[in-house]
Amino acid sequence: MTDSMSSLASSLANKRILLGVTGSIAAYKSAELVRRLSEAGATVQVVMTEAAQAFVTPFTLQTLSGRAVHTALMDADAEATMGHIEQARWADLIIVAPASANFIAKLVQGQADDLLSAICLASEAPLAVAPAMNRQMWAHEATQANVATLVERGAKLFGPAAGEQACGEVGPGRMLEPDQIVAMSAALFDTGLLAGRRVLITAGPTQEDIDPVRYISNRSSGKMGFSIATAAAEAGAQVTLVSGPVALATPERVTRVDVRSAEEMLAAVAANLDGQEIVIAAAAVADYRPLQVATHKIKKQAGSAQLSLEQTPDILATIAADKGDLFVVGFAAETERLEENARLKLEKKSLDMIAANRVGSERGGFDSSENALKLLWQEGGVELPMLPKEKLARALVQIVAERFDAKDSTKNS
Ligand code: PMT
Repeated sequence: MTDSMSSLASSLANKRILLGVTGSIAAYKSAELVRRLSEAGATVQVVMTEAAQAFVTPFTLQTLSGRAVHTALMDADAEATMGHIEQARWADLIIVAPASANFIAKLVQGQADDLLSAICLASEAPLAVAPAMNRQMWAHEATQANVATLVERGAKLFGPAAGEQACGEVGPGRMLEPDQIVAMSAALFDTGLLAGRRVLITAGPTQEDIDPVRYISNRSSGKMGFSIATAAAEAGAQVTLVSGPVALATPERVTRVDVRSAEEMLAAVAANLDGQEIVIAAAAVADYRPLQVATHKIKKQAGSAQLSLEQTPDILATIAADKGDLFVVGFAAETERLEENARLKLEKKSLDMIAANRVGSERGGFDSSENALKLLWQEGGVELPMLPKEKLARALVQIVAERFDAKDSTKNS
């Protein structure tokens, strides 16, 4: 891969790609495509139509993807483990490569009589099709009309290329090479919505020492903040991530500053605030810390023990108090009266936006791979449903970019 391709491909790290393989001789290239997507860091789930299995075996693609290939809609075992609706929700992107003329026609008609077409119909994920067929089939007005309809509905068209075809003819209809499909897929995640913007994000918990071996902390895993950092970097921002202690790898193209306590987080944020345009505070900062940190390990004594606490500095309120043109987004973690409590924080801390999430319930919130958010601002808000945190973060970044642009244009008008 060239340098520019490998940097594009980095946007595929941790992405969930559902690769649909349909009946075309170009299906042999799918094996290489699975390998390339996996090398770029994506998790690849292959779904094959019956016709595709005449050209390449599920076993080959299973071996390369490391995941069982799904082929049938009415398969009780497969539906029990990961049903078609779940697969539709799972995907960050669906790529149909190769896409035969027949499968493209099925997509246009909204058919759902096999697993792949049912998934495509049930999914909100972006859809990319890489056609592969004989040049006459491609040129036929029925195919051209079908492709135009798909594009009009928002599908991305990858190719086809022109050249020598398996049937011996020469012309357009060849599937793009796997490297080209990987680069075009990666580019779909690089939205450019925050191109050139400087964004500071806080994530994870803080640890407030009691003595040399004990501390007060919370269950934040950092996943929400790290997903936002990834999404902001993919949107073209220059991202600084100030993180409490978490067990997560630093997202690509993100500058990370590690801290432990609220005091350290405040100092790191202050040291990195100059020149920032957007701050997103997803960290679960401890509200209280021990009044005194014992120099030696506190000994166990008979009876109960008391710990005197004092408030930590409020990092978000400190930033927002003097924010100028800075666009400040806070989080609100609430167990009750979600919107009411979040709106109070929005007002009290003079924020541009607050992302309210319910915590302490069965799904979402702390240390979960999914979450739901209510985004609120002075004049309105929008609700984002329960989604994997990576997807939720992309939706959040899109709305932050829109609100930031609106504020920016009001300022400049
Ligand atoms: O990390 P995960 O496991 O993925 O979980 C994600 C999350 C639940 C931690 C995240 O979605 C979230 O809600 N983060 C904010 C948690 C929190 O501290 O909420 P709060 O309502 O107590 O605080 C309100 C805001 O003030 C937050 O933006 C917080 O970062 C900030 N704050 C709070 C206290 C303090 N001393 N300084 C602050 O800056």
